[in-house]
Amino acid sequence: MRILIHNIKSLSGIDYQSKLLLKGKEMAELESVHNAFLLIEDGVIADFGSIISDNFNIIKSNLNNTIQLDAKGGLVLPSFCDSHTHLVFAASREVEYVDKIKGLSYEEIAKRGGGILNSAKMTAMATEDELFESALDRLKEITHYGTGAVEIKSGYGLTTETELKMLRVIRRLKEVSPLTIKATFLGAHAVPLEYRGRQEEYVDLIINEMIPMVASEELADYIDVFCDKGFFTTEDTDRILNAGMKYGLRPKIHANELARSGGIQTGVKYNALSVDHLEYTEKEEIDTLLNSDTMPVILPGAAFFLGMPYAPARQMIAAGLPVAMASDFNPGSSPSGNMQLILSMASILYKLTPEEAINATTINGAYAMGVSEELGSIEKGKIANIYVTKPVPNIAYLPYYYGTNKVENIILNGLIQR
Ligand code: NIG
Ligand code: FE
Repeated sequence: MRILIHNIKSLSGIDYQSKLLLKGKEMAELESVHNAFLLIEDGVIADFGSIISDNFNIIKSNLNNTIQLDAKGGLVLPSFCDSHTHLVFAASREVEYVDKIKGLSYEEIAKRGGGILNSAKMTAMATEDELFESALDRLKEITHYGTGAVEIKSGYGLTTETELKMLRVIRRLKEVSPLTIKATFLGAHAVPLEYRGRQEEYVDLIINEMIPMVASEELADYIDVFCDKGFFTTEDTDRILNAGMKYGLRPKIHANELARSGGIQTGVKYNALSVDHLEYTEKEEIDTLLNSDTMPVILPGAAFFLGMPYAPARQMIAAGLPVAMASDFNPGSSPSGNMQLILSMASILYKLTPEEAINATTINGAYAMGVSEELGSIEKGKIANIYVTKPVPNIAYLPYYYGTNKVENIILNGLIQR
């Protein structure tokens, strides 16, 4: 099957060099072709370029079995790769949100059995089918906003049974959704109430029971730990990541959201694919990341929603690091998976240029979820996950005109989504 998209005002996010990530100054470069076409064949990007090119004339001379899609002067970009979400959950938590407005902190709510533990209670009561159906609706919603790949974590189970239930839901989502999905086991998201004061025993349960079962059913691609003040220590994290690595689970960890937890250093020590949140990051952590293959992932939605300090994205880029940005879609700290909103926050709150923000949410996001060889940029041979915008003046308009959906057409795996 062939699709020819024509009448593209600008095709952006092109990569001629097969880079797996963009760092430092490279992040400001967003390769584009104006007045462009894009040809998709059998689910992959087959060709692209200017309409004033020989290639385009040759393609136009043989349009048998080719669907033509008029971009009507819209932009075409690679779909967002959202590398950090918790989008399998049983219920919303707007009651806590009101408590937060009235002044309670995230940690205070967690201490009272709210927060993650509240979600865990509700997840235990929900059936696998209920969790699946509601998560599928969320996937449809984020698809509509231009996401083409998403990482989803467990972590609202906190018992072997419910962690496995969540991961089986994610496996079913992988089977039915056109999105590329990666699953992360996050048994170490919070210490259940019954283990208060016996945290090490909960870590033992994760290591001795949960990880072997998750691995034997091949339910996870990655392993995560909430390595932060009031949650899991660097020693707990060491033990859990060691155990996970024995089963080939590469870490992607929550670090430095609430304090300088040592999580970044621990992540780098275990060659984590990414360390995420990073509100409390200083030069020492930036230096550690510079000597690593670990992607720093910033979650603007969570910092915005919780009123947290913003991670030092500009300093990271100035130091030569790559930066990815993801939604953290979850019911407690970031109840939105809209990556267009993340694009706006990236530029408004973190001072990324529109080009840097797009790279942070596409190719660098793809790296942070281990899919940048096949997704995240416009490159021949890559999976055709792209979106066409409404007619908009330019790239800068995307983060600028925040709050509305600028996506007009969506193609995933080379198929037009309705
Ligand atoms: O990434 N920081 C830890 N975990 C989630 C919050 C989950 C929740 O509050 O339900 C996060 O923000
Ligand atoms: Fe998270």
